[in-house]
Amino acid sequence: MRAVGAAPGLLAGADLTTGRAAFIERAQTRGDLFVEQPYDLYSEANQETWRRLYRALAGKWERHAHPRFLDGVARLGLDPDRIPRLRDVNRFLEPLSGFRARAVSGYVPAYLFFDCLRRREFPTTITVRDGDRLDYLPEPDIFHDLAGHVPMHTDPAFADVLVRFGDAARTAALRARDGDCRSVESALRALARFFWFTIEFGLMRRPGGDGLCAYGSGLLSSAGEIGHALESPSVQRVPFQLEWVVNQGFEIDSLQPLLFVVDSFRHLEREVRRLERWLGEGRLDNVAPGEPAVSREDLRSFLDAGLQ
Ligand SMILES: [Fe+2]
Repeated sequence: MRAVGAAPGLLAGADLTTGRAAFIERAQTRGDLFVEQPYDLYSEANQETWRRLYRALAGKWERHAHPRFLDGVARLGLDPDRIPRLRDVNRFLEPLSGFRARAVSGYVPAYLFFDCLRRREFPTTITVRDGDRLDYLPEPDIFHDLAGHVPMHTDPAFADVLVRFGDAARTAALRARDGDCRSVESALRALARFFWFTIEFGLMRRPGGDGLCAYGSGLLSSAGEIGHALESPSVQRVPFQLEWVVNQGFEIDSLQPLLFVVDSFRHLEREVRRLERWLGEGRLDNVAPGEPAVSREDLRSFLDAGLQ
C-alpha cells in the first residue's frame, strides 16, 4: 500500500486515514489481522472527519433509523466529537448482548468474518475515511463499523441474527467438503447477497407505526444513502423474499435502487435460519451469476474451514 495523496512535507501515513496509515501497512506486512487500536495515532483531521460525519448523520438517524439503533447510540454513549475507543464501547456493549468490537488491520476473509460473528466478535475497522470524500466509501472505516453497525449490536435479538449468520457460514463450509468449487462459490454469493440486503442495507417496518425505518449499516453510515433509501421515489422497496435476495446482484459504488423490507428482527432471524437450511440442502448451489464477485481468498477460507 502506498501513501497516496499526502501533502509534501507532511509525515505520510502517521495518522489513521484509510488507505495511507503506516500502522495498518506494518500490521498487514506482519500478517497481523487482529490489532490493538492505537488511539494516539488519530490526528486532529481524523477527529474532525468523525465530527463532521456524526453531525451529518445525527438528524437523519432521528428521522430514519430503527428505534433500537437510536437506543444503541445512547447506550454506548457514542461521542459526537471524538472517535470512540473500542474498549470503552465494549464496556457497555458486552453486558447487553455478549458482542464486542475487535480491531482489525483490514479485510477479513469471508469465513473468518462470519465465524467471528458466531463467537460474538465484530471485526472492526479502525481507520477513518479521507475527510475530502465524506460520503464515498469504497471500503469500511471506523464510522461505518462503529457508528453504522455496532449500535444495533446492543439489541439481543439483532445480535442473535448475527450469530445465525455465523451458523449459516459454518453449514456452508461443512458442505463445501463434498461440493465442487462452483457450488461453494454459489453458496458464498448467496450468503453475501443476503448479508448485503439485510445487515448492510436492510429496511424494516417501523415498530408500532406506519412507514419504514433503516437498520442496515450502509444506510446508517451514509448521509446520502439513508435519505435516498427511505424517501426517493426511484427506489424500489419490496417485502423480503429469500428466493429473490439470494439471486439478486448488487453494486457497491452507487446509490442502491432496490431494497428489501423485513417485518421484525424475529422475521429476519427466521429468514437466516431458512438460508442456513437451504445452504445445507444444496438449494443455493446454483444461484444467479453476477455481483458480488467471489475472491479466491474468500473461497479458500470456506474450503479450508470445511476441512477442519
Ligand atoms: Fe458493513
